[in-house]
Amino acid sequence: MKVADLNFKKFIPKSEINSVVKKLAGKINVDYKGKTPVFLSILNGSFMFTSDLIKFIDLDCKVSFVKVSSYSGTQTTGQVKTLIGLDESLFKQDVIIVEDIVDTGTTLQKILEELTALGVRSVEVISLLRKEIAREKKVNVKYVGFDIDSEFVLGYGLDYNGLGRNFADLYKKV
Ligand code: IMP
Repeated sequence: MKVADLNFKKFIPKSEINSVVKKLAGKINVDYKGKTPVFLSILNGSFMFTSDLIKFIDLDCKVSFVKVSSYSGTQTTGQVKTLIGLDESLFKQDVIIVEDIVDTGTTLQKILEELTALGVRSVEVISLLRKEIAREKKVNVKYVGFDIDSEFVLGYGLDYNGLGRNFADLYKKV
């Protein structure tokens, strides 16, 4: 399959994604019993994963969506990332960050720093996919759907230059 200038092949079918998402939700249902967690979905990539995941959650819970904006700072250190669109207080909340994929872990690190500063009670991370480099760097992701190599993937919310988010299956670059 061709998306823009790249070729992709089927990687993980929607049936497999669905059973893994269900399993992850089951773990969260057990771990957060008696609590009211806030699922903090990191847009854009995690919209589909979040939508499927929370359908299997049988706890009282809240769902919020934020974006991580990247812009060049005035310092020479380059890219600055910050959370935008947060519309509720996370003070003393049990937050579960919902990510599509953790690659280098840089994005996640920034989000975790911001949430800690907001005084959350607890914070954990769920990511549908985790790349090799995040495993090597021991980025702390409590709930992982699939551990993959460093290949480029798209579909199920993930994009290549804005395209491919609508595919129900996951594809990888050939
Ligand atoms: P990190 O900061 O390097 O962990 O990058 C995380 C972000 O990069 C993800 O939330 C995605 O938006 C994007 N990303 C990383 N790898 C891929 C990929 O294989 N396909 C699509 N987007 C990716």
